[in-house]
Amino acid sequence: ESGKLWGGRFVGAVDPIMEKFNASIAYDRHLWEVDVQGSKAYSRGLEKAGLLTKAEMDQILHGLDKVAEEWAQGTFKLNSNDEDIHTANERRLKLQKLKKEKKKRTGLSRNGERFGEDPEPWGMEELIGATAGKLHTGRSRNDQVVTDLRLWMRQTCSTLSGLLWELIRTMVDRAEAERDVLFPGYTHLQRAQPIRWSHWILSHAVALTRDSERLLEVRKRINVLPLGSGAIAGNPLGVDRELLRAELNFGAITLNSMDATSERDFVAEFLFWASLCMTHLSRMAEDLILYCTKEFSFVQLSDAYSTGSSLMPQKKNPDSLELIRSKAGRVFGRCAGLLMTLKGLPSTYNKDLQEDKEAVFEVSDTMSAVLQVATGVISTLQIHQENMGQALSPDMLATDLAYYLVRKGMPFRQAHEASGKAVFMAETKGVALNQLSLQELQTISPLFSGDVICVWDYGHSVEQYGALGGTARSSVDWQIRQVRALLQAQ
Ligand code: ARG
Repeated sequence: ESGKLWGGRFVGAVDPIMEKFNASIAYDRHLWEVDVQGSKAYSRGLEKAGLLTKAEMDQILHGLDKVAEEWAQGTFKLNSNDEDIHTANERRLKLQKLKKEKKKRTGLSRNGERFGEDPEPWGMEELIGATAGKLHTGRSRNDQVVTDLRLWMRQTCSTLSGLLWELIRTMVDRAEAERDVLFPGYTHLQRAQPIRWSHWILSHAVALTRDSERLLEVRKRINVLPLGSGAIAGNPLGVDRELLRAELNFGAITLNSMDATSERDFVAEFLFWASLCMTHLSRMAEDLILYCTKEFSFVQLSDAYSTGSSLMPQKKNPDSLELIRSKAGRVFGRCAGLLMTLKGLPSTYNKDLQEDKEAVFEVSDTMSAVLQVATGVISTLQIHQENMGQALSPDMLATDLAYYLVRKGMPFRQAHEASGKAVFMAETKGVALNQLSLQELQTISPLFSGDVICVWDYGHSVEQYGALGGTARSSVDWQIRQVRALLQAQ
C-alpha cells in the first residue's frame, strides 16, 4: 500500500523530488480547522443521504474532533506521505497509531515485583479505522479544497475588515482632534492651496472606507458553497447541498460543479482588493515619508515605528512607512502571478490551482501586518503645527485673489489672468504676493480695494471651501460625521 489516497492504479513509486514538488502540506496545513469543519458537514450530508448510519456519522464526527484537537494542541504528527491537509486529516482519522508517553518509570521492588509499568507502554490508539474510508464518498479533493479555502478566506476577510476599520477609526480620531491645523496642500508636489491637516488625513481615510466596502463585496462572492460538486460532474449520491450550505453557514450554493471546482476568481478578487488597498496605503506612506524629512518637518515618526542607521548616528529612518510602501509591490506581484496562473487553463481542475493558497496566505499575513503597523504609525505620529503653518506662503492664495475679483463681478477667466499678473508683478519686484500695495494691485484691476487684505489670511482662505467635501471646518466636520456613521454601521 502506497499510503496515498490515489494509490490503487499505481505500481511504481514516486520520485522523492516529485513527492516534495507535489506536496502542499507545508502551507495548506493552515487549513486544518476549516478542513475538519468541511468534513464534519459532509459526513452529516452523507448520513442524511443514507450513505452513513447515524452511528458511523457519530464515529466520524468524534474522530474529526480528535483530529482537530491534535492540531490545536500541536500534537498532530505529519507523515512523510501526507501530501496535503486533506490527505493528512483523512489518514489520521483512519489510523491513529500513537506512541503513548511512558507515564511512570518502572522498577523492581525489593521482593522482586515489577512496579509502575504501563500494561502497554507503547499503546496503539486507533481512532475510527475503516469507517473513515466512507467520509470521502462522492467527494473529491477538488470540491474539498475550494470549500476549505472559501471558509478560510471568509474568516480572514472578517479579521482584515476589523483591522481596516481600526485604522480608519484612528485616522478619524486624529482628524477630529487636529482639525484646526493648517498646512500646504500640494499638486505635482508644488504648493497648491492651504488645507486643513485633517482634510489630508480624511482624504486617505475615505479611500480606505471604499476598500472596506469592496472587501465586503468580495466576501459575499467568497461566501458560496462548492461542496457537493465532486471532481467535476457533481454529486451522484443525492447529497443535500442545501444542508451542507446551512451546516457551513454559506450565503449561497455554487451553480455549476465544473465552475465550482476550478474557478478561482474569488481569489483573484481578494488579491486585487489587497492590491488596491495597498496602493492607498503606499500613497499615504509616501506622503508621510516626505513630511517627516527635515526639509518638510511637518511630522515626526514615533521611535516605535522608526529605526536608526548602523553608521550615521543622527539618522532616524521611517522604515515602517517604507515597508508599507514596498509591501504593495509584493502584493501586486501575487495578484498578477495568480492571474497568469489562471489565464488559459483548460477546464476544469488542474494542479496549477494548488498555487492559489500561498498567494492567499502571504497576502493575508502582509495585509494584517501592514494594517496594524499603519494604525500604530498614525496613532503615535507627532505633528509640528508651527512648521506646517510656516510652510504656507502668500502665493498659495493666488487662487483666492482671483476669487476676490470674481466676487466683485469679474468673470473667472479674467480674474485668473489678473491674479496671475499680480503673481508676476510680485515675483519681478522680489516681494511676497501680499506685499503688493493697493495702488500696485489697482494697476492690474480697478476692482481691487482696501478689503483685499482679507484675502491674506490662511484661516479665512480654508473657510471659503464650505461646499460639501471641501476643507472648511464645517465641511471637514461633515466628513468626520459621514465616516463615523460608516464606522458605526460596522
Ligand atoms: N492540494 C491540492 C490543491 O491544493 C488539493 C486538490 C488536489 N486535487 C487533485 N485532483 N489532485 O489544489
